[in-house]
Amino acid sequence: MCGIVGYIGYRDAYPIVIKGLHRLEYRGYDSAGIALLDKDLKVYKKAGKVSALEDFVKDLPLTSTVGMGHTRWATHGAPSDRNSHPHSSGDRKLTIIHNGIIENYANIKETLLAKGHVFKSDTDTEVLIHLIEDIKTQTGLDLQEAVRVALNKVVGAYAIVIMSADEPDMIIAARKGSPLVIGVGEGEYFVASDATPIVEYTKNVVYLNDNEIAYIHRNELLVKNIDNTVQTPYIQELDLKLEALEKGGYDHFMLKEIYEQPRSIRDCLRGRIYPQQGKVQLGGIKEYVEKLKNVDRIIIVACGTSWHAGLVGEYLIEEYARVPVEVEYASEFRYRNPIITEKDLVIAISQSGETADTMAAIELAKEKGATIFGICNVVGASIPRITHAGVYTHAGPEIGVASTKAFTAQVTVLTLIAFYIGQKRGAIKQSTLIEYLTQLDEIPTLVEQALKSNDRVKEIAEKFKNSNNCLFLGRGSSFPVALEGALKLKEISYIHAEGYPAAEMKHGPIALIDEDMPVIFIATKHSSYEKVISNIQEVKARGGQVAAIVTQGDTTVKDMADYIIEIPEVNEAFVPLVSTIPLQLLAYHIAVMRGCNVDQPRNLAKSVTVE
Ligand code: G6P
Repeated sequence: MCGIVGYIGYRDAYPIVIKGLHRLEYRGYDSAGIALLDKDLKVYKKAGKVSALEDFVKDLPLTSTVGMGHTRWATHGAPSDRNSHPHSSGDRKLTIIHNGIIENYANIKETLLAKGHVFKSDTDTEVLIHLIEDIKTQTGLDLQEAVRVALNKVVGAYAIVIMSADEPDMIIAARKGSPLVIGVGEGEYFVASDATPIVEYTKNVVYLNDNEIAYIHRNELLVKNIDNTVQTPYIQELDLKLEALEKGGYDHFMLKEIYEQPRSIRDCLRGRIYPQQGKVQLGGIKEYVEKLKNVDRIIIVACGTSWHAGLVGEYLIEEYARVPVEVEYASEFRYRNPIITEKDLVIAISQSGETADTMAAIELAKEKGATIFGICNVVGASIPRITHAGVYTHAGPEIGVASTKAFTAQVTVLTLIAFYIGQKRGAIKQSTLIEYLTQLDEIPTLVEQALKSNDRVKEIAEKFKNSNNCLFLGRGSSFPVALEGALKLKEISYIHAEGYPAAEMKHGPIALIDEDMPVIFIATKHSSYEKVISNIQEVKARGGQVAAIVTQGDTTVKDMADYIIEIPEVNEAFVPLVSTIPLQLLAYHIAVMRGCNVDQPRNLAKSVTVE
């Protein structure tokens, strides 16, 4: 949460910083601010979106070749001008932007208040810059050392950038627990929460590690550990295209990302399946074949949409690899003293690779000796770096806060893992695997066909757009799809929605059903088809409005449902990949019709780096 961007070089900093903030706005968008250094430090901040800040500064002289900016997702202190970052020291000579939480800020603040420091905001961040100022003035240490000493006193997570009026040729960046990337140019450096603000200027980046501090001058990057040992920064080349960060003619990133799914699933499968040979190749986990052959339990940890993908994974891995799977919310797992041994395999799923709870769950499982795999989308993020092995989803940057293409890519990877383990353990016959892989290869085309339901879905959205509640029902692996459909709708349209296993409806939700209640069924022709039909009848008998996602050509459900959406016929293993598409479109259209901000829904952030 919160996006930070910084620049030092020979170009005008403001346009770089403001464009960077727009790219990072998915991380938080309740307020924004910038600092520039033109003789003095100039700090401008405003509650609201980055565009509100832009309007606020549009007539001001903004020349500077050093600058930084912040887009906020509030933790300590309500969104307001004064709680926006940057925050400055008492003498206004130092200023800081911060992503993360300083957990012991209250104690530090108390000490500083006693020493006469005056605070202008309610934030934890302001306390940190006053602490640095205090150390500097009390001890006579230079800024570099004062920052290092202060960070040693801090408990919590941070990615920070600091500018000083007295040191106009340097910015300082540091990280612990929150991501930070440094772009390496010629005579210039960039700093940002992810690589998206950097990619159009340079492809060379350094991912700062936890407990590292970077002292950045125009022609020099010095990285030290928090204990003052010099580190050698590892420069890597970004594999990120600028077009991937633009809307490309779509009204919203979410719609673009929904339509990208045939491509993103194809990219996810590329080089990993060989249908004719019945072979799945997963380079990232190949060292662990022996482990996979013998593993007797898999625990999946994740949050949000990634947790839903994990639930689909449970069905797939148990069915095709015959290994017991447990799926846990990372936030619950980490706090309940779970029983984990070296024999366990933990799979952490995360689009961003930065989710604080998922990271903490990984650390806990690691301490207990488990082997940890990661399934992540953002290359080089923190989770792929703290796991033993893993598989990237290769869905490309996902900017819309509501996850779409990352979900289907996660499910694709889990399908591959299920087949991979199944094959290694002899749980799946080679001829069956050939059959499955042949169809898996076709999934991008079938997803393309499912996208053709768009107009139909839009008509249904028109009917349901004024509802206050909505129920999503499915059985088997369509249950997590129902959960995901409900989450999409509530996230972006603010309609209360719940996903349920269709049979569980009788144990509660059925009481809610009346003529105003839309009920969306996933009713494809697979193992529980007849049972789902009975559930549809139960809803119809109580006057509910039924929309059903059905297999192309289905006439039975057509006769009883109010609306149907056809999707191509597909093997049961792959239903989630195809049936999710109309649910994403439904949420999207309803949200647009209700005038909601689809890409940046209220109160949410894409990358949740606080617990
Ligand atoms: C936030 C996002 C969701 C995402 C969840 C987990 O809530 O808004 O879209 O599913 O975090 O994020 P992760 O990056 O770990 O998948």
